[in-house]
Amino acid sequence: MGIYLDHAATTYTDKAVFEAMRPYFEEFFGNPSSQHGFGRAAEKAVMKARGQVAALIGADSSDIYFTAGGTESDNWAIKGVAEAAGSGHIITSAVEHHAVLETCKYLESRGFDVTYLPVDGKGRVNPDDVRKAIRGDTILISIMTANNETGTIMPVREIGKIAREHDILFHTDAVQAAGHIPLRVDELDVDLMSLSAHKFYGPKGVGALYVRGGITLSKFIHGGGHEKDKRAGTLNTPGIVGMGAAAEIALRDMDKNAAHEQALVKRLSDALLQLPESRLNGDPDNRLPGHLNISFGGIEGEALLTYLDMEGIAISTGSACSSGSSKPSYVLLAMGLSIEEARGAVRITLGRENTEEQIDEVIEKTTASVKRLQEFSPLFAQRRDKGSYV
Ligand SMILES: Cc1ncc(COP(=O)(O)O)c(C=O)c1O
Repeated sequence: MGIYLDHAATTYTDKAVFEAMRPYFEEFFGNPSSQHGFGRAAEKAVMKARGQVAALIGADSSDIYFTAGGTESDNWAIKGVAEAAGSGHIITSAVEHHAVLETCKYLESRGFDVTYLPVDGKGRVNPDDVRKAIRGDTILISIMTANNETGTIMPVREIGKIAREHDILFHTDAVQAAGHIPLRVDELDVDLMSLSAHKFYGPKGVGALYVRGGITLSKFIHGGGHEKDKRAGTLNTPGIVGMGAAAEIALRDMDKNAAHEQALVKRLSDALLQLPESRLNGDPDNRLPGHLNISFGGIEGEALLTYLDMEGIAISTGSACSSGSSKPSYVLLAMGLSIEEARGAVRITLGRENTEEQIDEVIEKTTASVKRLQEFSPLFAQRRDKGSYV
């Protein structure tokens, strides 16, 4: 099928995960809420998965609520706090995923105030800015653990400490980070954390929200009394079992996978950053292990994506939700890139199954494609002829 380098969009489902899920489609298909053996078997599996997901983030299993993915978890965390408070002020950042930004915009339309904090050139929020933005009526701080376009890891621990000092709830969207870097909710002073299984080799359409015990969060989906009467709907037993299995494998293999991905990313970036007018976007030191975001001067990232797609190599230009739109990335613009630099960006996200041979092929094909595209670029040609590469 080619070379897949778009793991931030989604990952394949691990074979062992798929095998763990299978019996819950075929044999143990009971409704986990049912009072008979079929139901109890399913419920037991859900309990096991709750423990596996909790272990991934150092949480208590009774604080894990299963959802239909990261988007739902983000919506629930933010709207749930807002609705329980009734009114107030929310602090977030300009580079959050749409699942957070659009939820905040919706809440603004309902009378809540939202501060969108800026980021620095590496894509990091300054914890001092968080402190300064706090008001008497601030009800929630929501800052992502790591960004989906650049992989930049935010100073979550420092922000959590500030939130705790001020007695304000702290939510972090850990959808990209979970399963890839160590996360412990207590060490980070996190009250709410969003997770999604398909970003760490689990199935799509299943996620979790960690809600620290004792926090009042309004009910998200009304109906039966599932998930402690907070999120109604028959539980997706196979998906939940898959998320649990994927969490256990991710925790077990985290160091090994990170070292493997980091080495391949280094090989790739060392080569691609040799190209004229190339620049690394994001934090060189605090980045998710598989993430690489690079801009090439004078070209459109979309064109490079298309060239590589024709060679069977899958990359992206930003988040999967906004790709296809020709707008430059709001994340990169918030980091201070020019429109040309943002348009020339591609996101290459590696996974545990990628090999050195694949990366060498990607280096060769990307180098050739960038050179060809730059040759066609009047902007690039002008600067080259004047000897003034940017
Ligand atoms: C940072 C971040 N938050 C939330 C989401 C949404 O997660 P899901 O696809 O599970 O709805 C994504 C998915 O790309 C993401 O990268």
